[in-house]
Amino acid sequence: MKTNYGPINPNCPHMLHGGDYNPDQWIRTPEIWDEDMRLMGLSGCNAMSVGIFAWAALEPAEGRYEFGWLDTIMDKLADAGGYAVLATPSGARPAWLSAAYPEVLRVRSDRGRNLHGGRHNHCLTSPVYREKVAAINRKLAERYTGHPALLLWHLSNEYGGQCHCDLCRAAFVQWLQGRYHDDLDALNHAWWTAFWSHTYTDFSQIEPPSPIGEGATHGLSLDWKRFLTDQTISFIRNEAAPLRELTPDVPITTNFMGLSTVLDYWKVARELDVISWDNYPRWHGPGSDADLAAGIAFVHDINRCHKDGKPFMLMESVPSATNWMAVAKRKRPGMHLLSSLQAVAHGSDTVQYFQWRKSRGGAEKFHGAVVDHVGHENTRVFRDVAAVGKVLAALDPVVGTSVRPEVAIVYDWENRWAIDGMAALGRELRKYPQTCTAHYRPFWQRGVPVDVIEELCDFSRYKLLITPMLYMLRPGVAERIKSFVAAGGTLVMTYWSGIVDENDLCHLGGWPGEGLRELLGIWDEEIDALYPADRNRIVMAEPNALGLRGQYDTRELCGLIHAEGAEVLATYGDDFYAGRPALTVNAVGEGEAYYIASRNSDAFLADFYGRLIATLGIAPILDADLPAGVTVQKRTDGTDEFLFLMNFTGDEQTVNLGDAALPDMLTGETLSGDTLLPPYGLKVLRRPAAPSTG
Ligand code: GLA
Ligand code: ZN
Repeated sequence: MKTNYGPINPNCPHMLHGGDYNPDQWIRTPEIWDEDMRLMGLSGCNAMSVGIFAWAALEPAEGRYEFGWLDTIMDKLADAGGYAVLATPSGARPAWLSAAYPEVLRVRSDRGRNLHGGRHNHCLTSPVYREKVAAINRKLAERYTGHPALLLWHLSNEYGGQCHCDLCRAAFVQWLQGRYHDDLDALNHAWWTAFWSHTYTDFSQIEPPSPIGEGATHGLSLDWKRFLTDQTISFIRNEAAPLRELTPDVPITTNFMGLSTVLDYWKVARELDVISWDNYPRWHGPGSDADLAAGIAFVHDINRCHKDGKPFMLMESVPSATNWMAVAKRKRPGMHLLSSLQAVAHGSDTVQYFQWRKSRGGAEKFHGAVVDHVGHENTRVFRDVAAVGKVLAALDPVVGTSVRPEVAIVYDWENRWAIDGMAALGRELRKYPQTCTAHYRPFWQRGVPVDVIEELCDFSRYKLLITPMLYMLRPGVAERIKSFVAAGGTLVMTYWSGIVDENDLCHLGGWPGEGLRELLGIWDEEIDALYPADRNRIVMAEPNALGLRGQYDTRELCGLIHAEGAEVLATYGDDFYAGRPALTVNAVGEGEAYYIASRNSDAFLADFYGRLIATLGIAPILDADLPAGVTVQKRTDGTDEFLFLMNFTGDEQTVNLGDAALPDMLTGETLSGDTLLPPYGLKVLRRPAAPSTG
């Protein structure tokens, strides 16, 4: 089992630290560039993302390229022992380009064409735009191939959005003809167009979804989203072609946006050599930092899983305050290091920021940066960043390492699209991501590592597979779930699963469909939706195999199920379905399949998964009771394990490390027994890997 992937680029066997760097904004004051280099050294920054929105500076007029400034920066970075995460500039384009070729301007879903301006405002299909992007990318690759500073390519910026121009529409129709093998009947059936007489009689009649046209044909909306992902991938391939040709050894990434639904990131991930994402949490807000931390941990884990455990990059994070937030609150002391190292704990080999130096004007002049308008290093934020630099420098042994969890939670982009698009349950009650993170949190709190995967991933390596709200079964998924259980796996499935196929067509003959009804030994006949103040209870059957006792709060969604062979572990306490099954388990082959019929309290999830962890022999990272809001995560190269013990509360906490003497990689101390964690504090500990772990 692979857990050591080596560095992102073998030229730099260290953690990367740095951020978005826009020297093109300071061309008039090159002395600032020298100051940047000095400050990078002081802050322990070694990797700068250069050129992300620099097209106007690189090609000020069509075909006239000016690389002088970038040559200087690349050379200065190399001289300083640093690296460039070099960007392609397609995220924003020069005004001359829009003026000369209006087809590059994006068309909105109401079919109006945008003016020039903003960013990420281009047509995905336009041959002219693709040609111009490929041309400047080729120039960049030709110029910097072999340059000692060139570490990585950063494609564009946060791909996303959609264009509804005639070119995009034609491409969509062509894509549909491919998907449905030119068979309009097949498309009409898949989209159930007999509803409201929406039957198409010619492919040319099909329009992308629009507020002034079709918005309620769920199959169409799903296919449009799939098309947008495929069209972005084709755009990415066009961007990447010259880079792959001229700099085949330089890895390629692009920055994802967490759980954004704009693209199916699993599919885009296959186009990239390394995954990166931008993380802007709202620390110290009305909710608890611990809950927020668990939610972010969930996203970090997805990014690690995109490439089967390969370390990812934290491409953007804010060194201080995020200017666009409703409340731009500052991180409390400790939080900058903690939140930066949280990414590393879950598999990031970088901590990078937006942005290195605050711009003097423009939309983001008040966005947090390493270097503030004051211009020197004597700021609280700079000291915080330098502290991260120091810590990262001590973590060379962690570079390239990973983790192999025994537990997986399925969080699937297409399933999310389908749930977000459906009219069912109650608009406010769908909560697919929140449900998945609620099922993740008990593991985070106990220090049990988890993979977060999509429906198409391999399930067979896990002991425990959790599939919250698996509404849409993509092709082959039900079969693979059945094989997983038959081979001895433990499955936890919830309400609102197995409802539709990949076209959003409902399964007939009793839910959950595709044989999952038989697997689970239940029939989910109907689901009750509750108002916010409504409550029900689930009452544990006593005794039950899990050893859970008493009752738990349940709310929002209650599936009314029938046991068809499954053992009933709990029943509803109230209302007209009091006494009916609410939690079941079915033994199948070597394995077991649990069904949670209702949206239960966090207390239930904590106890339920606590019992499963114990009965399945799933090993927590530390044999210790972790205080609420404290977690431990690990990475290993198979020989050593690196433990990240993190306190996401504003209070001092104590964790008992037991008898083993564990070196603290940051202080050199050896720790054992009761160990204090300051508010928002962390420790990075090293211990030998047990032979069976990894
Ligand atoms: C995004 C973008 C950056 C910047 C930051 C600000 O992540 O990629 O260019 O706008 O947001 O938070
Ligand atoms: Zn278009």
